[in-house]
Amino acid sequence: LTTVKSIYRNTAAYANKEVTLGGWIRTMRVSKNFGFIELNDGSFFKNIQIVFEAEKLANYEEISKQNVGAALIIKGLLVETPEAKQPFEVKATQIDVEGTSTPDYPLQKKRHSVEFLREIAYLRPRTNLFSATFRVRSLIAMAIHEFFQGKGFVYAHTPIITGSDCEGAGEMFRVTTLDLENLPRTADGKVDYSKDFFGKETNLTVSGQLSAETFAMAFRNIYTFGPTFRAENSNTTRHAAEFWMIEPEMAFADLNDNMEIAEEMLKYIIQYVLDNAPEEMEFFNSFVDKGLLDRLHNILDNEFGRVTYTEAVELLKKSGHTFEYPVEWGIDLQTEHERYLTEQIYKKPVFVTDYPVEIKAFYMRLNDDKKTVAAMDLLVPGVGEIIGGSQREERLDVLENRMNELGLKKEDYWWYLDLRKYGGTRHAGFGLGFERAVMYLTGVGNIRDVLPYPRTVNNAEF
Ligand code: 4AD
Ligand code: MG
Repeated sequence: LTTVKSIYRNTAAYANKEVTLGGWIRTMRVSKNFGFIELNDGSFFKNIQIVFEAEKLANYEEISKQNVGAALIIKGLLVETPEAKQPFEVKATQIDVEGTSTPDYPLQKKRHSVEFLREIAYLRPRTNLFSATFRVRSLIAMAIHEFFQGKGFVYAHTPIITGSDCEGAGEMFRVTTLDLENLPRTADGKVDYSKDFFGKETNLTVSGQLSAETFAMAFRNIYTFGPTFRAENSNTTRHAAEFWMIEPEMAFADLNDNMEIAEEMLKYIIQYVLDNAPEEMEFFNSFVDKGLLDRLHNILDNEFGRVTYTEAVELLKKSGHTFEYPVEWGIDLQTEHERYLTEQIYKKPVFVTDYPVEIKAFYMRLNDDKKTVAAMDLLVPGVGEIIGGSQREERLDVLENRMNELGLKKEDYWWYLDLRKYGGTRHAGFGLGFERAVMYLTGVGNIRDVLPYPRTVNNAEF
């Protein structure tokens, strides 16, 4: 089969030649003697127009009766049509029906709301919006691999089922084979997980970081790219229970190196998508988020902002803006604060660093002031936090102190602590929320619309 993408990219090579296409009817208009089909062949965001005539097709009747959504194989002549909206069309010489559709096909030629399309998530990749979104999602994944592989980072696959809680937030999905109706219990009445499949309590990973650190201590520069799971009971446009994360981890690196690589990575992805999906990006710019392309170009041309948490709190207080949640040193920045910082004050992506130790995870490196840690969050306009990372605590005694303060059991992390004993070096890393990156690059405002099959509270359909 010829792909529509190659016809668009190299029309001259196909002009006045026979092509064979396989695709689905997006729209169809028929009259007594001829008809038009807008066909999408899946290879490209754009459709191709097929013209068919009663005189040339023995099965003209059959084709005229096809419904939107039907799958066809079409042979025909590619002719250039310079005056028309589409610069070429196919004059069919043969059309075979591979799969019929029905009149109640849910995707008719009209604009459907994203809410409606979520209810038919198994069909929505056939719409322009989702065709563009999932194609760009795929390209961003490619860009990320290219970026890190190009720098010699090793791709590490960290486990999905784990026995630890990396973020210490307790927002984990339990993994168990125990009979819930009849749980085995220890003498003191607690659930006896030694009887469970793994002989201990396990859960779906919230982050691959701890295992990533072990690989960084062997390969120096590594990255993970995999699914992560959080049982956060927050029904927002930016949280999903199952999402993908990219977590680079670098030995002999500090917080500055971390920010540099994060900025370079994001710019690389943006450039890659602009280069490889110009039609899709035009579409987002016209129909989803006017100003998207200007914004992305602007990001490529400017350095990201950098501000410490302490300075950021001062800036927010001085702004005179009334926040729903009042700003005080020590609070965890809320979405409204993050967005105000990046959208109103900086008007570009900004790294916020050195957060209070109390509001960050146990593994972050304690600063000399003993009040803050070497953390960094990257905030971007339109989305808010897209990256969270830090320099890690490599000093065994300081790390153990912190774990004691938080009541973390050393037995659960013995191997992680050992890393600090056996050639533990300065190291740093971060996690990029993949869906948030897709939202940022497309302007799509809801995480449910950048995930093929979103898992959120009360939703695991499909
Ligand atoms: O800030 P987070 O929690 O950081 C970590 O998990 C670190 N262990 C990463 C590291 O240093 N290796 O999560 C990282 C990013 C967030 O900035 C956000 O973009 C995304 O993951 N994220 C979510 N995305 C969608 N739905 C959720 N529920 C998310 N929770 C975090
Ligand atoms: Mg975070």
